[in-house]
Amino acid sequence: MRIIGASVKIISDSRGNETLEAGLRSDNFFASASVPAGKSIGTHEVFVLEPGKAIEKFEEIKSEILKKEYRTQEDFDKFLIALDGTDNKENLGGNLILSLSLAWAKLKAKENGQEFFEYINKIFSEIFFGSAIIKAPKPIFNVINGGAHAKNKLDFQEFQVIPTTEDFNIAYSVGREYHRKLKNVLDDKFGNENVSLGDEAGYSADFKNNEEALEILSELISKNNYPLRIGLDTAASQYYRAGNYIIGKKSYSSEELKQYYLKLIDTFNILSIEDPFFEEDFVSFAELTADLRGLKTPKQNKFATGQAWINADKINKNWSNISNKTDVLVITDDLTTTNPGRLKTAIDKKSGNAILIKLNQIGTLSETLKVVKMAYDNNWQAVVSHRSGETMDDFIADLAVGVGAWGLKAGAPEKPERIVKYERVLKIFS
Ligand code: PGA
Ligand code: ZN
Repeated sequence: MRIIGASVKIISDSRGNETLEAGLRSDNFFASASVPAGKSIGTHEVFVLEPGKAIEKFEEIKSEILKKEYRTQEDFDKFLIALDGTDNKENLGGNLILSLSLAWAKLKAKENGQEFFEYINKIFSEIFFGSAIIKAPKPIFNVINGGAHAKNKLDFQEFQVIPTTEDFNIAYSVGREYHRKLKNVLDDKFGNENVSLGDEAGYSADFKNNEEALEILSELISKNNYPLRIGLDTAASQYYRAGNYIIGKKSYSSEELKQYYLKLIDTFNILSIEDPFFEEDFVSFAELTADLRGLKTPKQNKFATGQAWINADKINKNWSNISNKTDVLVITDDLTTTNPGRLKTAIDKKSGNAILIKLNQIGTLSETLKVVKMAYDNNWQAVVSHRSGETMDDFIADLAVGVGAWGLKAGAPEKPERIVKYERVLKIFS
């Protein structure tokens, strides 16, 4: 495909920070892609170049982009990687490289007459030498924000609800209803003026501690028999201090922390836990994963009530889908940073059973797809994720569908930059 025009400009992300949007033009089409930005960033993520500097870099390489023709996504991504010439993309910046990689992908999809998820699925199928599944992911709604994403006392970063139904339409409507009801509960408890939104559109209030937030979530689920389970992204590197973990005023060793998690998981019937330990602690991740395997008894049946949108058979079937692989997902984010070398270590050490996939942790689409394949080859699940600083770009929805990911983590169904991701999945399956 020949590129006849290329541009990169600075736009605002959802926190009002500067980020990049790249635009590429072929003889027939134009496509653009923008990149998000994290706040609790893993040490092993690729380098993010300050947007002003990234524009300067782009001007230096623009003629190179226009000079050559690239046949495949991998050809184009490899060209960018070679041009950068560093291990962590610090020369051109992972953000600049990703904006170009995704703009190229979208342009190529248009040239091929494909939807973006179809284009991704085609490449992914080729990597698999066969056909890869296209399916709707489970939406993972981050309904209470803490940690680095909100100004409150919560040590854990994300308190999520995850629908147990496979039907995305139902899942999305349950998530929206739950989020609205949660607002009423929090308004009653803390006063309307004291409830605000965190970075990922989940609520923030003066919760006493993690348990109080979990109790509120859990009570609202059981009161209404919602087909939902609770998930956590504890983002433990944020409360790790010199070998220990500080939660509230208490210090925990990694063994004590593991016991604390096991108790919470059991008490609140938690389905998934992300980044439970510091980003270099492969061993503690492995110990928790081992302790959780086969430990839990499915408690799904309590959702089998007569409510219109709950189909007991379906939920029970879905539970068996989940438990085929594992009972509780231990998801690696900062530990693996969508990086093949880090994932290989995690797989070898059995430090989890699911990986969080963030394109901007590694910097190109083709490298990302290979990481997902490595996960699947080793019986790990994949959860495609947004960042806390987002744009209106909805490419992660297509990525999740195109690789048949287990989940899509895109915040609460509230602010537009989060909603567009979920509603893109709705559109794909409408
Ligand atoms: P971040 O947080 O985008 O601020 O890194 C998201 C996460 O930790 O999953
Ligand atoms: Zn995370």
